[in-house]
Amino acid sequence: MIDGPIGLLGLGAYVPDRVMTNDDWAEYVDTSDEWITTRTGIKTRRVAADDETTVDLAVAAAERALEDAAMAVTEIDEIIVATDTPEVYIPDTAPFLQQRLGAREVPSFDLAGSGCAGFVLGLDVARSRALSGGKKVLVVGVELLTRLMDWSDRATCVLFGDAAGAAVVGPTGKGGGEFLSFTAGTDGAQAEILGLEAGGTRRPFTFEGAERGEHKDIVMKGREVFKEAVTRMAAASTRSSRRPASVWKILRWWCHTRPTCGSSSPSRSSSAFPTTSLPSTSRTTATQARPRYRSPSGKLAKRAKSPGATWSF
Ligand SMILES: CC(C)(COP(=O)(O)OP(=O)(O)OC[C@H]1O[C@@H](n2cnc3c(N)ncnc32)[C@H](O)[C@@H]1OP(=O)(O)O)[C@@H](O)C(=O)NCCC(=O)NCCS
Repeated sequence: MIDGPIGLLGLGAYVPDRVMTNDDWAEYVDTSDEWITTRTGIKTRRVAADDETTVDLAVAAAERALEDAAMAVTEIDEIIVATDTPEVYIPDTAPFLQQRLGAREVPSFDLAGSGCAGFVLGLDVARSRALSGGKKVLVVGVELLTRLMDWSDRATCVLFGDAAGAAVVGPTGKGGGEFLSFTAGTDGAQAEILGLEAGGTRRPFTFEGAERGEHKDIVMKGREVFKEAVTRMAAASTRSSRRPASVWKILRWWCHTRPTCGSSSPSRSSSAFPTTSLPSTSRTTATQARPRYRSPSGKLAKRAKSPGATWSF
């Protein structure tokens, strides 16, 4: 086991150039900017170019993460790709990424079918690998959903877009940033509320099925997904932030990243917050001055005196 913090060594992201607005969608399906914005808050999404594939997006994000970490790809000990829209059906997308990046012959595998949770699950797995073996793990979350979705199904198509995000996870050294807590879970009873069935052993590809567009038949029970997402995310946030040490660290990090927490005047709140060195990302350490822990209203500081309170960020 590594005796030291495990955290983010670098971050990167890539979005394709093409921007699709809600008004653009209104030309394809019976929808409107007002309907989409009111229910989802989405205004635009990105769409990959015809000659871009999942690996192209993943490579661009991964290279930026490596650059951010100031690391050579040969230093990477493991690669995890979280995606529901793989480069090909078999093998995983991660081996293609490994080859394109020029990484060593390290374990490279996908977390497939985890949807929105995939990237966070990937970080959690990476953290445990780093914790047990000191590995530096590249995690990429990538989707090219516009290639697989049904562009005539207004209930799903307006929600999706294409992009990739990447992180390098590993030991950050004494005083470095660290993952404080992960909360994860699976409710298999809800497995049918969002999915794409065609192509699996239950419903193998057929010519007739393809003609009917089954391969793009993403089924989503939107209201159920919404209900599950909102309640589970809130519960997970609360649970994570209640874990030992998390409350104070999250609070201090939160203040660290918010200019409004600063104050030039002496404050009663300065004693309400621990003043030991902050667990911060390399980004915040590099770019921000040492914070002063006080909200302008003093409200935050008052609450912070009660460590048993529930915090969700
Ligand atoms: C998708 C979502 C925005 C739909 O909102 P909703 O209020 O539940 O809408 P419903 O699905 O009940 O549909 C209500 C009506 O709007 C219509 N509608 C659906 N999509 C529409 C669109 N893009 N534009 C206009 N009308 C639309 C439906 O056809 C339905 O019409 P009807 O009453 O005549 O049958 C909402 O359920 C949601 O956010 N779900 C979570 C989705 C999610 O996070 N998925 C994971 C993504 S990976």
